[in-house]
Amino acid sequence: MPVIRFVREGQDVECYPGENLREVALREGIELYGLKGKLGNCGGCGQCITCFVEVVGESSPSSLSPRTGVEERKLERRPEGWRLACQALVQQSVLVLTRPQVGLADAEALLAAASQAPLPAGPTAWPVVETAPDEEEAGDGEADLQGPA
Ligand code: FES
Repeated sequence: MPVIRFVREGQDVECYPGENLREVALREGIELYGLKGKLGNCGGCGQCITCFVEVVGESSPSSLSPRTGVEERKLERRPEGWRLACQALVQQSVLVLTRPQVGLADAEALLAAASQAPLPAGPTAWPVVETAPDEEEAGDGEADLQGPA
């Protein structure tokens, strides 16, 4: 399972591949929003642009799903690593800085510390197709190799 390492909060959270980053953060009590977002956010529709996060460290660019069309428009003038949490699906383990627009004391030290402990890679591809144990044990497999009669 992928791990989201929330650098600002110093917290690792496991999630299922394909889970929405905003939903995972809110479920785990991570504060995604600044004052404006707390007072009124769009609930995850990609309209209020208050759920900024930044993908940091050695995270793979494919750790999150590609930017959506909404993000391309809304994040036009923002740094490349910024995402809207409500639009991002977690594909692999990732280091994330919430509220990147807000200063962070000792940012470099925190990031260095967060990057030291290795993250589990998570699945290599998404969606993950797993074989049910019943399918592996069924029959001796010869029928599958022979093809249709
Ligand atoms: S919650 Fe409004 S843009 Fe993400």
